[in-house]
Amino acid sequence: MNHMRPRRFIEGNRIYLREVRLSDANGKYYRWMNDPEIVRYVESRFDPKSVEMLQSYIRREEENKANVFMAIIDKNNDEHIGNIKIHGIDHIHRHAQVSLIIGEKDYWGKGYGSEAINLVVDFAFNTLNLYRLFAGIYASNVGSIKAFKKANFFEEGVRKEHRFCNGNYVDEVEMAIIRAPHKN
Ligand SMILES: CC(C)(COP(=O)(O)OP(=O)(O)OC[C@H]1O[C@@H](n2cnc3c(N)ncnc32)[C@H](O)[C@@H]1OP(=O)(O)O)[C@@H](O)C(=O)NCCC(=O)NCCS
Repeated sequence: MNHMRPRRFIEGNRIYLREVRLSDANGKYYRWMNDPEIVRYVESRFDPKSVEMLQSYIRREEENKANVFMAIIDKNNDEHIGNIKIHGIDHIHRHAQVSLIIGEKDYWGKGYGSEAINLVVDFAFNTLNLYRLFAGIYASNVGSIKAFKKANFFEEGVRKEHRFCNGNYVDEVEMAIIRAPHKN
């Protein structure tokens, strides 16, 4: 009997994705969202987050049918290492946006981000039947651009000085993946 084993909603090689739980807000997720280095290029960086704020965010995400919000878990030790979200799902145009945070810094640069992106791409295309996924990334967030490229996203354009970051206006790189192989 393995009924106590955490449910693995989507399983990869080194990680699995499951629902984000209210109890997640009490621990690491709370620490990540209040760490300026982690949220440096993330829109939610402008105010400190309380556990209660994170819990109401999790509740809203659960109810939002246009979003799928998932925790990224290390298969080795069931450690919560980040979150990934498919959001703005549009079933007419069959597209959605992808955002993620690998919150545990020890896990940066080891391929966990691109593995998580690969898993949601497969889920979005083959389970949600979406056609196109996209992401907007600060041009200075080199690690994120590389992680999306490793997951076969391509650069489709740049919004010049679209974001205000650390006192400067910075470009946002638009990246996308299309279900049929793109021609570029
Ligand atoms: C951005 C982020 C998701 C990337 O996840 P990750 O697990 O580190 O990504 P991966 O290891 O799959 O790929 C990143 C690649 O960029 C490289 N990299 C990371 N930071 C870099 C930097 N500052 N400059 C150059 N390369 C960098 C890594 O070495 C790796 O390259 P490699 O595979 O050739 O070794 C993660 O660092 C993170 O969550 N950061 C904080 C939140 C954030 O910025 N989220 C993204 C918002 S769009």
